[in-house]
Amino acid sequence: MIKTVHIVYFSGTGGTALVAAGLANAFAGLGIGVSKTQLGKAEQKEDVAADLLVLLYPVYIMTSPKPVDEWIASSATVKNIPAAVISVSGGGEVSPNTASRVAAIKKLVQKGYDVFYENMLIMPANVFVSLNDDLAAMLLRAVPGKTKKVASEMLSAKRVRKKPLIWDYLFACLGELEKKHSRSFAKRLKVNDSCTGCGWCRSNCPRGNITIEDSKPVWGKDCVNCFRCIYGCPAQAISTSGFAKKLVLKNGFDLLLLQQRTQHITEFPPVEQIAKGRLLKNLIKYLRD
Ligand SMILES: Cc1cc2nc3c(=O)[nH]c(=O)nc-3n(C[C@H](O)[C@H](O)[C@H](O)COP(=O)(O)O)c2cc1C
Repeated sequence: MIKTVHIVYFSGTGGTALVAAGLANAFAGLGIGVSKTQLGKAEQKEDVAADLLVLLYPVYIMTSPKPVDEWIASSATVKNIPAAVISVSGGGEVSPNTASRVAAIKKLVQKGYDVFYENMLIMPANVFVSLNDDLAAMLLRAVPGKTKKVASEMLSAKRVRKKPLIWDYLFACLGELEKKHSRSFAKRLKVNDSCTGCGWCRSNCPRGNITIEDSKPVWGKDCVNCFRCIYGCPAQAISTSGFAKKLVLKNGFDLLLLQQRTQHITEFPPVEQIAKGRLLKNLIKYLRD
């Protein structure tokens, strides 16, 4: 019988944080006691004292963000505490996104958790391609309904585990390798002359990985590729180069602004009309459901 839930999550640009808040509301609405931990710095340690652990994180190219792995590694061994793993992505439940839970689930199981539930929620993507406002707003407004459904499924204790595709195991290994090179991403980050040295990036980096030297940010070795500094910089002065540059959305990414910009929309066209193309197939299905 689940009476208390602990949600552990990492969020770079706020999407997963909104899902965590939605889930917390959904559980509370069902009479469950909820606590939350937002992951950030490497030294963060905490043991779970709840009937159910929910681990929640954004998909970062086939894998989970580094703070999630660190949290699992530093957490105490438990005896069969039920756990759920939920990944949040822009593209939805399609390979290689499905590979992003393989390693995290394996590590949780090694710690003694009984991972009985896994799922993927979709939020407006903060990389590759910007969604149009209608679609992005639809995804944001789907959060309460989707999280309520997911919370009820978890409480029903039904086993919802998805068998990874064979190649997902390979993608998962590649994802683990890629994470080791997140440092090279930080090496490519730079500021232009618009930087005012305001320190927003330093204060908001989830890892405390930015210092200000001579009124300009300097990135340390502990970058987790979350893009928060790039999108949050008030002067839009931060950019990157190489492959990562292709990931960054040209018009930026700000969920709060998006919410404000789209709050007047009361009626949406049918999702099939605005989501065209094979890449959005998953998204259409998700919103239709
Ligand atoms: C470095 C990086 C890699 C990403 N890789 C993927 C990916 O492979 N597939 C996908 O669907 N979304 C990908 N995304 C998008 C995020 O998973 C998605 O926007 C998520 O909602 C972001 O959550 P957040 O706002 O809590 O950081 C990536 C985002 C970043 C920053």
